[in-house]
Amino acid sequence: MASMISILLGFVVSSIIFIFFLKKLLSFFSTHNMSEVSMLPSVPAVPGLPLVGNLLQLTEKKPHKTFTKWSELYGPIYSIKMGSSSLVVLSSNETAKEAMVTRFSSISTRKLSNALTVLTCNKSMVATSDYDDFHRSAKRCILNGLLGANAQKRKRHYRDALIENVTSKLHAHTREHPEEPVNFRAIFEHELFGVALKQAFGKDVESIYVEELGVTMSKDEIFKVLVHDMMEGAIDVDWRDFFPYLKWVPNKIFEARIQQKHKRRLAVMNALIQDRLKQNESETDDDCYLNFLMTEAKALTMEQIAILVWETIIETADTTLVTTEWAIYELAKHQHVQERLCQEIKSVCGGEKIKEEHLPRLPYVNGIFHETLRKYSPAPLVPIRYAHEDTQIGGYHVPAGSEIAINIYGCNMDKNRWERPEEWWPERFLDDRYDTSDLHKTMAFGAGKRVCAGALQASLMAGIAIARLVQEFEWKLRDGEEENVDTYGLTSQKLYPLMAIINPRPSS
Ligand code: HEM
Repeated sequence: MASMISILLGFVVSSIIFIFFLKKLLSFFSTHNMSEVSMLPSVPAVPGLPLVGNLLQLTEKKPHKTFTKWSELYGPIYSIKMGSSSLVVLSSNETAKEAMVTRFSSISTRKLSNALTVLTCNKSMVATSDYDDFHRSAKRCILNGLLGANAQKRKRHYRDALIENVTSKLHAHTREHPEEPVNFRAIFEHELFGVALKQAFGKDVESIYVEELGVTMSKDEIFKVLVHDMMEGAIDVDWRDFFPYLKWVPNKIFEARIQQKHKRRLAVMNALIQDRLKQNESETDDDCYLNFLMTEAKALTMEQIAILVWETIIETADTTLVTTEWAIYELAKHQHVQERLCQEIKSVCGGEKIKEEHLPRLPYVNGIFHETLRKYSPAPLVPIRYAHEDTQIGGYHVPAGSEIAINIYGCNMDKNRWERPEEWWPERFLDDRYDTSDLHKTMAFGAGKRVCAGALQASLMAGIAIARLVQEFEWKLRDGEEENVDTYGLTSQKLYPLMAIINPRPSS
């Protein structure tokens, strides 16, 4: 018995000793790996001033452009100081993909400005949430309920109606004001917003009574509150973003401005949601994203549902407009591209109006779409990411706590990757290297697990719009239009709406 006990004791003691050594061994290897990362060289830093760092060098208000200029001096990865925070800037496909794909597990979270924290209801949107259970279930919803291939098939009639309405308004313009330039944005934006509302609530909305504000709003006013004011708010800068240790100092004017936008947006969303819920009582056709979320995502609060539905509205209404407007601007400027496009459409569609089914056989339309995305990426900077643990990019050590800016504009303007990047030249995508169906010829939609969920919808809408608008009209720029190429704030949106002279083509 005693020997039995001593055998057991011996076994227990040797197991403890074994586990102790195993733990030591594992901890040696894990610290060894960590120290391997921290022994890598530091990311090259752009010289700046004490306290403010490089903030004063970013006064041009187009950070993606300044970042791209700096990448020519400091390389595809460098760091800057934005007040007290360190921002690592990536401006090449290789470094951007490494951050978005290979090192994703270390830098999957977001760092939001104070303005975005309020406007996204503290990361309650797919695009701005951290990579967690909320993100995974919300992304599944947006793909199954709206943006995935099957859902997009169900929403086809909305896209068909969009292009019919736009072209018939343009024809009306040529009949009523044949000599006058047309404001393309005003027409396209209105119709696109209509699609965004139909996808969200199952119907376009001409006006709504907003009980919380005590006013009836027209569709244009709804657009202003849900899209325009939000875009303006998203780029609003709070100086405390750069000095978090001073966050206790009040910035009342900024806070009031952002809170007002946020509350008005929620009030309008609530009115639209109540309107749709009332309609559900009498209608059998309930196919809309709001109803999808109400039935499929029961754990969400009403505020989360409102923000997730609003997200689809702002994303539909903005990015596709930016791309289509710039494409039409470049087509109007480059008559030979318009001619070549007409020839391609004629050879594939004959006298028939172009439809989505034709798109895979129209490589030039595809080239125009991707070349426009390359030169005018609607999201020139990916929403800032955050390294929550030590990691590496491009062979450099990126310490935990660094913010990461992926400069899509810089990737798409990289001289080492693109021949004559400043030039808008759709032929570059006719090269055999590029597959027509590949939506990721440029970095415009991001990459990896957080790649854009709306790429398919955007390519269908913008592709058809580009082709139909040229199939039916000849486009020319109004005199002086070429000087109006500035962009709005930190975005890629054209600062001044495109004003073009249009003539119906003989066959249309
Ligand atoms: C030309 C049009 C568009 C461009 C260039 C674009 C670009 C982008 C980019 C750069 C990202 C960030 C990717 C990242 O963080 O790695 C993104 C994310 C996203 N986009 Fe788009 N987008 C477009 C259209 C749309 C549309 C029409 C919708 C929806 C209606 C949409 C929905 C989303 C969503 C939900 C995400 C978040 C994905 C995630 O975090 O998992 N996008 N988009």
